[in-house]
Amino acid sequence: MEKNTELYRGKAKTVFTTDDPEYYIMRFRDDTSALDGKITRQLERKGRTNNHFSFFIMRSLERSGISTHCVKLVSDDECLVKKLKMIPVECVVRNLAAGSICRRLGIKEGLRFKKPVLELFLKNDELHDPMVNESYAQAFGWATSDELESMKTQSLRINEILSDLFAKAGLTLVDFKLEFGVDTRGNLTLGDEFSPDCCRLWDTKTMERFDKDRFRQNLGHVVDGYEEAARRIGCPL
Ligand code: TMP
Repeated sequence: MEKNTELYRGKAKTVFTTDDPEYYIMRFRDDTSALDGKITRQLERKGRTNNHFSFFIMRSLERSGISTHCVKLVSDDECLVKKLKMIPVECVVRNLAAGSICRRLGIKEGLRFKKPVLELFLKNDELHDPMVNESYAQAFGWATSDELESMKTQSLRINEILSDLFAKAGLTLVDFKLEFGVDTRGNLTLGDEFSPDCCRLWDTKTMERFDKDRFRQNLGHVVDGYEEAARRIGCPL
């Protein structure tokens, strides 16, 4: 499949059209950012690591019955994906307290919740991705009630599948963010990526971080941590 024009350039990925209107090519760049893009840096090997990591996770989810946009890897830093109409609401699932929920509720990092917490955020950098709820999403037309129901069910199912996958590798899936879209046939489909950029992964015994908090909090070589997480789950790089 031929890559055509650049359609969209985000903070860490670029999406290109292809000669087939039903498919895009998503390129993972080495760019990394924090604080809504205020801090940016180039991290060698990050693009290829996240591309392989995300593809490996999406493939595992597909095997467990989750529809994802990933079709195949087309190079070390590019993946062929199905075209989706993205829903501008991000789903965050949390198993343990970390990040913004600690600041918001004044709770201690590491607290394990009695059941997973599911939150919705509007995808909007200028507004710093404010937290929203289902009523907002329907009132503003961001998602229908059926789509929201399906996003919730799939997010919690993905949490079960991936918590188990990471646990087998000695990693605790603390939290993560998902983005969904609707494919050309009208099916709700997992889009974007699943990489250490958009989740928190802790070593189950030592609590060492293998995710983007290494960058946000200066906790050591960022990509080495991502590669270690990939190695542990058996993801080829
Ligand atoms: P938070 O603690 O900053 O709210 O983030 C929770 C999890 O979701 C964390 O793993 C990072 C991820 N996340 C993103 O990757 N992008 C986002 O825009 C948001 C809101 C969260």
